[in-house]
Amino acid sequence: MEMTASLFERLGGTEGITAIANDLVDLHVANPRIAPRYVNSDLEKVKHLAATFFIAGSGGPSVYEGKDMLSAHKGMNIDNDEFVAVLDDALEALEKNGIGQREKEEVLAILYGLKSEIVHV
Ligand code: HEM
Repeated sequence: MEMTASLFERLGGTEGITAIANDLVDLHVANPRIAPRYVNSDLEKVKHLAATFFIAGSGGPSVYEGKDMLSAHKGMNIDNDEFVAVLDDALEALEKNGIGQREKEEVLAILYGLKSEIVHV
C-alpha cells in the first residue's frame, strides 16, 4: 500500500504554511500590479486569513473563518492580469520556502481552480 502525505503535511503543516502565507502577502504589497488593492488592509489580518485558508484547503484542520472566495472578491472587478500576479507571487513564496516541484504544481492547480469565483465576479 502506498501512502502519500496530505498536501498540508508536505507544505510543512501549520508552521510551514504560515511562513508561506506571510511571504505571499509581503510579495503582494511589493507587487505594483496588485499592491494598490491592499493599501487600506490590515496586513496581519490578511496574513492570518491567507494562512488559515490554505491550512484548511490543503487537508489540515478546519481553521478558516473568513469569507468564501466569491463573497470575498465580489464587486472588486478583479481582472485576469491581477489573478496571474497573485499566482506569480504564490509561486515565488513557495520557492522562497523550499517547496518541491510536485507541491508547487498542486498548489497552483488549486489556486487556478478558484479563478471563476474571483475574476470579474
Ligand atoms: C486564487 C487566488 C486568491 C485567493 C485564494 C484569495 C484568497 C483570499 C482570502 C482568503 C481573503 C480573505 C477573505 C475575508 O476577508 O474573509 C481574500 C481577500 C482579498 N483578496 Fe483575495 N484571493 C485570491 C485572489 C485575489 C486577487 C487576484 C486579488 C486582486 C489583486 C485579490 C484581492 C483581495 C483583497 C483586496 C482582499 C481583501 C483584503 C482585506 O481584507 O483587506 N485576491 N482573498
